[in-house]
Amino acid sequence: MLLTLLIRALTNVNCSDIHLSTSHHKKWFAVWSMSKYLMENEEESLRLEMKTENRITEQQAKWAGLKPGMRVADIGCGTGKTTAHLHHMVQPSGEAVGIDSSQERIEYAKENYGHTGTRFSCHDISAPLDSIGKFDFIWVRFFLEYHRSKSFDIVKSLTEILKPGGILCLIDLDYNCMNHYGQSKRLKKALKEVIELLEKNADFDPYIGIKLYSYLYDQDYENINVHLSSHHLIYGELNETDSFNWTTKVEVAGKNSGYGFEEYDGGYEEFFEEFKNFFNDPRRFTYTPIISCRGVKPSS
Ligand SMILES: C[S@@+](CC[C@H](N)C(=O)[O-])C[C@H]1O[C@@H](n2cnc3c(N)ncnc32)[C@H](O)[C@@H]1O
Repeated sequence: MLLTLLIRALTNVNCSDIHLSTSHHKKWFAVWSMSKYLMENEEESLRLEMKTENRITEQQAKWAGLKPGMRVADIGCGTGKTTAHLHHMVQPSGEAVGIDSSQERIEYAKENYGHTGTRFSCHDISAPLDSIGKFDFIWVRFFLEYHRSKSFDIVKSLTEILKPGGILCLIDLDYNCMNHYGQSKRLKKALKEVIELLEKNADFDPYIGIKLYSYLYDQDYENINVHLSSHHLIYGELNETDSFNWTTKVEVAGKNSGYGFEEYDGGYEEFFEEFKNFFNDPRRFTYTPIISCRGVKPSS
């Protein structure tokens, strides 16, 4: 019991779906590192709220085929802002359910978006999904990137809870956080090493975007469509949202990676200072491709 409480405190994962018996105690660190959400920090809800734009969600969901009356699942719903907008789009008579393993974000979602009629459930997607019912449309945006080793299996298990004829919409980034021009050689090296460590140790997938089409293809989805555009396209003066988003991303990822920052005499602190200066410089050029894939589950 004590062990379970400790793990919950460390991971900020507090769902009833997680049960660890003492017989598993030797594996607790492995469980912790695989279940911990890479971006976990006390300002994560604020970061997600700031960077999420209903206008973009609406464009992507319409493109994917979201229609009034549908029952929608939003996998890894974060603060619920996106779920509430999807809920709004399926009215009248539709319903959106936001699912996230963070008790804290589910509480935030209920408090801030519960009044809209949107439903929220604290659930770890790696656990069995039978209890959440079947859906006409499943939305998976900025989620698979945190589950490199399990992403294909997650898509497989989501297919199980999609009704025949239902739509699966996968949206994620490619070369995530990797395309910058204008940084010093040592900053470029440090950022590359941080990402490589996160791939190995935190199950992060900076190249998930390019895989999405094959995930739908391999599961026999029909009428697959793909859309490619830029998620970040940053040049010139930095706006407040990009500044907060990127500073938090690099700070949290840099610390969580466990990288030593040997290029810097002042270690992590000096690295982070250099990153902020580079990113604030209007000469910097940064972009991240976003790939959206949607397909229809065969009826038979
Ligand atoms: C980047 S946020 C998602 C943003 C949101 N989907 C959107 O489109 O704006 C990723 C979310 O996935 C959740 N998450 C990570 N692993 C999870 C898991 N195994 N089961 C459920 N939720 C998970 C995190 O708690 C976090 O809130």
